Parts: sequence; C-alpha cells; structure tokens
Amino acid sequence: MTETERIHQLRKELHAHNHNYYILNAPTISDQEFDRLMRELQDLEAKHPELYDENSPSVRVGSDLNKEFRQVEHRYPMLSLGNTYSETEVTEFYERVRKSLNEDFEICCELKFDGTSISLTYEDGRLVQAVTRGDGVRGDDVTDNVKTIRSIPLMLQGTGYPKSFEIRGEILMPWKVFEELNRERELKEEPLFANPRNAASGTLKSQNSAVVASRKLDAYLYYLLGEDLPHDGHYENLQEAAKWGFKVSSHMRKARSLQEVFDFINHWDTERKNLPVATDGIVLKVNSQRQQRNLGYTAKSPRWAIAYKFQAERALTRLEKVTYQVGRTGAVTPVANLTPVQLSGTVVKRASLHNADIIASLDLHLGDMVYVEKGGEIIPKITGVDLASRPAGSGKVTFITNCPECGTRLVRYEDEAAYYCTNESTCPPQIKGRIEHFISRRAMNIEGLGPETVDQFFQEGMIHDAADLYSLQAADICRLERMGQKSAENIIRGIERSKQVPYERVLFALGIRFVGETVAKKVARAFPSIDKLEAATLDDLIHVDEIGEKIARSILHYFHDEKNKTLVGRLREAGLQMEAAEEDTSGHTDRLQGQSVVISGVFARHSRDEYKTLIEKHGGKNVGSISKKTSFILAGENMGPSKLEKAGKLGVRIVSEDEFLEMIGE
Ligand code: IVH
Repeated sequence: MTETERIHQLRKELHAHNHNYYILNAPTISDQEFDRLMRELQDLEAKHPELYDENSPSVRVGSDLNKEFRQVEHRYPMLSLGNTYSETEVTEFYERVRKSLNEDFEICCELKFDGTSISLTYEDGRLVQAVTRGDGVRGDDVTDNVKTIRSIPLMLQGTGYPKSFEIRGEILMPWKVFEELNRERELKEEPLFANPRNAASGTLKSQNSAVVASRKLDAYLYYLLGEDLPHDGHYENLQEAAKWGFKVSSHMRKARSLQEVFDFINHWDTERKNLPVATDGIVLKVNSQRQQRNLGYTAKSPRWAIAYKFQAERALTRLEKVTYQVGRTGAVTPVANLTPVQLSGTVVKRASLHNADIIASLDLHLGDMVYVEKGGEIIPKITGVDLASRPAGSGKVTFITNCPECGTRLVRYEDEAAYYCTNESTCPPQIKGRIEHFISRRAMNIEGLGPETVDQFFQEGMIHDAADLYSLQAADICRLERMGQKSAENIIRGIERSKQVPYERVLFALGIRFVGETVAKKVARAFPSIDKLEAATLDDLIHVDEIGEKIARSILHYFHDEKNKTLVGRLREAGLQMEAAEEDTSGHTDRLQGQSVVISGVFARHSRDEYKTLIEKHGGKNVGSISKKTSFILAGENMGPSKLEKAGKLGVRIVSEDEFLEMIGE
C-alpha cells in the first residue's frame, strides 16, 4: 500500500472509530490503539502536505493558530422559541395548533438542552461550516473550534443524506467536565465558570482550538433544515440523521394528545436531574413539516413550536440572621445566614445579599421564610420573601452603621453601592486581608502560608503587616499550637524564597486598589523601580498605555500615605525586588533582526517558550499567526495542517529546528 492509500485508509478508520466511541458509546479498539493510529496518520500527513484535508480526523486535536472569527450570514435565520413557564400556556399552544390545522397532528417532545446553539452545514457528507447563533441573522464562524468536538461528525456515515443541508443543535459541557474544569481553575486561582452553559459558550469562542479540544465539549443535534430531506416528519428526519452519525437525543417522543405532552413534561421535570448534561425545559414541535409550513412564523419565532421552561430550582428556608464581612479594601458585604436547606444537589447555608440596596428592595425581616435560587452565580442568592409566613413583630433588617469588626462608622462613596470601613490601619480583617493577598499564589506565592496561619500569627500578635513576615523566626513559629519544627522551617523557607519574586509581582502584592496583575505589569514596565513609581505625577501615570485616571489616582493616593511609604521601605530593607531585573543581554545578536517568526509543532531540542526567547534574543519577533509578512515558520514535528496549508498558499518558508539553530549559531 502506498503512503497516500494508507492516509486515506487511516482517515476512514479513524472517522469510524470516533463514531463508535462518541456517538454509539461502543468503541471497538482501545484508546492506545486509537492514539497509535492517530499518530501514524499525523506523521504521514506531515510528510505529505499535498494531501492536506481540512476534515481529516487529525483536526480534532486543534491548533493554536490565532483567529478572529469571521461573521457569516445564516442561510435560514436562527430564530428563538416562544418561552413559557406556565402549563396553561402549553395547553393554549396545543389548542391553537389544533384549531389552525383542523386535522390530526403529532407533537414531537424534546429536552431543551441548556448550552450554546450551533448551526452546522454539510456538503457532500462533509462538515463545511459551523456558525454560532449570533444575532440570529449573522453569527461567528467557529468551524475550526467545532471540528475538535468529537461527537460532531466531520464526515457522515451511511447513505441517503441530502447533498447540502444544515443541522442545528446545542453544544454542551457535561456536568462532570464542568465540575472538573472548575476544580482545576480553583486550584490555579482562575475565575470559575458560573454554569456549564457559560463554560461551553466561553470555550467555543476561544481563540485557541487546542483549548477547545481539551475541554471535552459534547453536542446534541435537534433540527434538520434543507430542501430535500428524507421525510416529512421532523422526528423521522432526526432518526435518519442519527444513522448518518449525528448525536441525536434518545429521549425524543411523539405525543398524540395533550395528556401525553404533560406526561413527558412531568417525567422530565424530575428525571432531568439524572442526565449528564444541563437542560432547562422541554421543547414541543409540531412534527410534520407540511403542517409546520401551514402554521408559519411570527416575527420572532415559529408558531409550530414552544419551549416550556422548568422553574429554576429554588428552596424555601428561614433567614436566621444577617452577618457582615469586611474585605481587605474595607468594603462591607452582607451575608444571609439560613437554616440549611438542600438545593440542586448541595446544602445551602448562606447566601450573598450583595449590598444595602438589595436588602431594602427585598424588604427583609429577620425570621422571614426566603426563596433561595442558584442563579447564574456560584453563590446562591435570595430571590424573594414568603410574606404570608412572616413572624409577627419581626424586625426589619437594616444595614449596620458601624464596622462589625472595629466599630468605625461606615461610609458610602458616591457612585458605589458598597459601604466601607475606612479604618485601614487597625481593622483586623483589612489587615489580614492585605497580608493574605500579599502571600497569595499570584502575588508573592509564599508556600506553607495560608489564611489560617496568617490568622494565627495575627492573633498571637506576631504580624501586623506584610513586612513583619520577614522578621519571623522558626523558633517563634514552633511555639504555636499545631506547628511543628518542619512546618515552621517550611514557612521560613517560603518567606525567604519570596525575596526573588520579580518587581512586577511585588507591585501587585502591595494591593494598591485597581492595580491587578495586568496593570502591575504595565506599571512595572513604565516605571522600572518603586522609586520611579513613587516619584510619578498624575500626568506621568495617565500617559502610560491603558492606565486611566482612576488607577493613576489610586497609585498617587497609595504613595501619599506615610504608612504605605514606611511599609514599602521595610519591604525593601527585607530584600524584596523593588526594581525590574536588568535584562541579560549576553549572547544577544541581530541575526534575526526585523524578522517575524511563527512557531509551530513540537520540538526536540528546546521548548516552545525557549524558542520564543531565542527568537527575541537574536532580534526577531515571535508572532502568532501566519500572514504575508511572516519571514519564516520555525516548524517542529506535527505542525498543524491548517498552518501548513496557509504557509503553502502564502509561500512562507518552513525552517526546521536544526536549520534554525544553525541560523542563530547555536
Ligand atoms: S429547536 C425554530 N430544540 O433553545 C426552532 N431548540 O429559544 C429552533 N434549544 O436557540 C430551535 N434544546 O439554542 C430546539 N431540542 C431543542 C432545543 C433547542 C435547546 C435551544 C436553542 C434555541 C433555544 C430556543
């Protein structure tokens, strides 16, 4: 067999294995065997760029080619559905359909998947385009990202599919994948996704299809469109689509009476909790396309379909008391303490009340029975009060006037919803909060220390600010409860090591308001030492790219305060980095002066990051995507097929790892 034939054979086999695994849940080979075949294909494809196929199963691994999404007009607009939460309106819908059609009809009952909708176009059995809903008329072309989703077929199976058609459905992140992703993000101190829907749509819009590939998205298809579909029935068409390799829900049912519709709704209202993906309701569709055409559309949605949404899960429980948390900036957040109650799989004891305005608008009283919901956010919220069960004579919840921790009178700044405690210097949670921020992973990253230890040190009077950490002795720490010699030494070592943390992170660690990680980097580049920053005027500051007046004033305010100046002085004394490190210019040349280099593939001699540094060291620039201006591509093994194709089209030179090292004289 020639290599060309082998490539074709491998592609066909791998498409079939994908289908067995992701659609039928019945793999016929082991994962290792699958990976081996995939590697063989990738190797052969790298050797034969002329056989490039944009629908090869190898595109499933994605590429890090930067792309901005092209806007595409939908061939058929992507309408939404009329929504209802009311059973009466479902009955009214059914009756309207019955009267208008005046003949027998069937209703196809389906789950309403809660993800992000997608429209796929197939031509001659190949996926050619995937577009998001967008505004319904135009959406984003996310084809490359969608190709990494294993349950979406790149090539269809079987026969009988129309030459050209669209199929629409929902891209979802299964609960399990979502929980795992958030666990990882929590560890990395990255912001969490509020729900699987946000995670799925965020992922789908990622600029990096390799990220999409790693996120394990799934997809259910629920709507086939085209001129020459096999059947008149929507349900029957989807059963055909399943044979072509699409993932179609096995829970679709045809109902022949209103009673059967309600049986379906009632069954799934509870049963949906056992599904692997999120659903938020039921979709009811008149099954016959001929009848659908008869019923037609309103301006916004079809008259032949309706969505019945499940009530968001909520629980009724008692508000026991309201407590107040003071953050490191002094902002005071009210927290509702509740009688513990079960809600969507977890026990809820507390809910955020956000601010004074929300308490007032709910007209909360202590002892009230309140409704809690898990909305879009991670922390549940109170959405209402059951006034009928309000205990007689119960007191209205009024926002505190003084700091619960230090007694200072609270203030409210113009344009802000929050109340603040202004006692920065002696209010304990503010002090502890600042130290906790200082030691956190993204700031000084002091290993062995956490909020509990900070609290313990603070209670014992050992620390009052971040600088105090640097005069701690192992012997003092050992004396504390639950502290052994080992952990004490560990903490001291962590503190010692933090002295090497670069200046930009020290800046972030100081906790100047509005100076987050990214701003800290920008500030550090513009003012490469803390002395220069301290000497900067408002004008100097706002001239820095992306630093507005709010940030500038906050920096000025920080250095205006003698206490902060003293703290910075003591941190400097302790040996922290208060200047940007001198760049190491040894070994720099101008061999790549003015050249734009794209890095692609996997390398044997250095990591990608090292190659990036090498390019810069020799005067070149590492760029993300291939264009006419690209000087050459530094290509390792398994360069992505889309990059290969683009390089070929634009005539950009491909340089191997060894050639490159020779170029820069290594
Ligand atoms: S049919 C014209 N079926 O719900 C009818 N939609 O507002 C097209 N959805 O944007 C949609 N599950 O994202 C249909 N089984 C299902 C669905 C479903 C979820 C979503 C879809 C659509 C929205 C309706």
